[in-house]
Amino acid sequence: MIKVLLNNHEVKNDVFELIRVFFPGEEIILLENVDKLSKDGLSIISSLENLNGKLYSNTEVYRDNNLISQYQEDIDLIKIYRDSIEKDIRIGIKKSLFNALKEVTDREIPWGILTGIRPVKIVHELLSKGIGDKEIIRVLTEEYKLYDSKAKLILDIGKRQIGHIYPLNKHRFSLYISIPFCPTRCLYCSFPTLPLGRFKNYIEEYVSKLIYEIKSIKKLTEGMEINTVYIGGGTPTAIPPKELEKIIQEVYNSFGEKNIKEFTVEAGRPDTITEEYLRVLNKNKINRISINPQTMNNNTLKLIGRQHSAEDIIKTYNLAKEIGFPIINMDLIVGLPSEGVIEIQKTLGEIKKLDPENLTVHTLSIKRGSKFINTLEEYDLESQDTIGNMLEETITYSKEMGLIPYYLYRQKQILGNFENIGYAKPNMECIYNIAIMEEKETIIGAGMGAVSKVFFPEENRLERVPNFRDIKEYIERIEEQIKNKEKVVKDLLLS
Ligand SMILES: C[S@@+](CC[C@H](N)C(=O)[O-])C[C@H]1O[C@@H](n2cnc3c(N)ncnc32)[C@H](O)[C@@H]1O
Ligand code: SF4
Repeated sequence: MIKVLLNNHEVKNDVFELIRVFFPGEEIILLENVDKLSKDGLSIISSLENLNGKLYSNTEVYRDNNLISQYQEDIDLIKIYRDSIEKDIRIGIKKSLFNALKEVTDREIPWGILTGIRPVKIVHELLSKGIGDKEIIRVLTEEYKLYDSKAKLILDIGKRQIGHIYPLNKHRFSLYISIPFCPTRCLYCSFPTLPLGRFKNYIEEYVSKLIYEIKSIKKLTEGMEINTVYIGGGTPTAIPPKELEKIIQEVYNSFGEKNIKEFTVEAGRPDTITEEYLRVLNKNKINRISINPQTMNNNTLKLIGRQHSAEDIIKTYNLAKEIGFPIINMDLIVGLPSEGVIEIQKTLGEIKKLDPENLTVHTLSIKRGSKFINTLEEYDLESQDTIGNMLEETITYSKEMGLIPYYLYRQKQILGNFENIGYAKPNMECIYNIAIMEEKETIIGAGMGAVSKVFFPEENRLERVPNFRDIKEYIERIEEQIKNKEKVVKDLLLS
């Protein structure tokens, strides 16, 4: 257990998250005052101090009553080009904590003090203020304490995204459609998905409500222009092709086929993708699909509860190419149980032969709400070093395949504190993925659990409007969810 005392500030979440990066899985408790601070075990005092009118952050780390590390930061010297002193203070507190804990643990922390899930946003903020590349790298490595390689990576990604984000346009939006059904639930998954075994009977009614919601979105976005459409899940191809076709047709009826710049169906699990399905998607002009292996090792596929083999993936991929899909994405997960460097090399070798236009590399994240979290002790998971080596392999193979990183995000419970990276062949980036990640364009969500994110460019503000995450509530309270969206979109149009 780690005891923490905050002195003269309330930056609790950031402090706790950064401590968790150094001590994953440890219990952390907040002490109310210094009297309760028995310094046996590990104790941390994080203070904000005012000395002769100057602000300093100070961290002291004690082990069994002995001061083992101490760092102080002069808040005046922090230069991150933020608009408020509060942000400088937050960074100062995290920096002194980082330095003190680094000395104690000597852990590798490639993302430095960053605990948020969208690091590229910082690059966009700096670029929009006219800051040059060299200074951006300095801010990232010296102030945020990123490794040089991570700083360069997110600067490159940020610059590559510019053409898809700017100029900002409050009238532009993308549409997300959620199909929450799945054939079965995978071991690691925490998404609110509905296994077909129990929820098949809901499909028809769900689709009819969804179509109603899409028609209503057409009305409430009058005066706006559609950019991209993404049908995700769950597994969209878990429902019969004629049902998915109805949804796609409604999107075209409402928004006009020629206005949609990119139309993705995250087909996902190869055990749901038949030749008939691929032909229906192709006939309906879907120009980007996902066929997700996660791994190309059959033993692991069985272990994680996916009912397809590596051979099924190859067959489905080749068929999709033959039918003529211009962009196919493949999702992988690094760090799955029982996998190490040899297994990821095997997976990447197979993917390289297929040569997809997009590849998304996730690092395993052990999430609440997954089957995994309750059965963890049954599985072998690799060390941070090995996960790092496996990710190096994904970088090497991606380069060999001519794939370039174009979006990146992190998750809280990600193994080894790494990241997820989307790669694409040049000019084949998924525009929707950039929009959802960088939060500079409105996304309107339809369907169970879909979250609309309305972006107000003048205020650089995002307002979330979630749909219900329960199928019955989604169906029964459809009007309410449409009204909630309508209100916020109206505010945007009047702003
Ligand atoms: C919303 S899921 C849906 C994809 C589709 N249903 C499938 O399973 O192929 C999107 C992707 O997130 C990744 N993912 C899901 N849960 C994860 C976890 N716990 N850790 C790492 N990646 C995860 C997987 O690569 C998955 O393909
Ligand atoms: S990983 Fe995909 S197929 Fe598996 S349960 Fe999650 S959403 Fe469904």
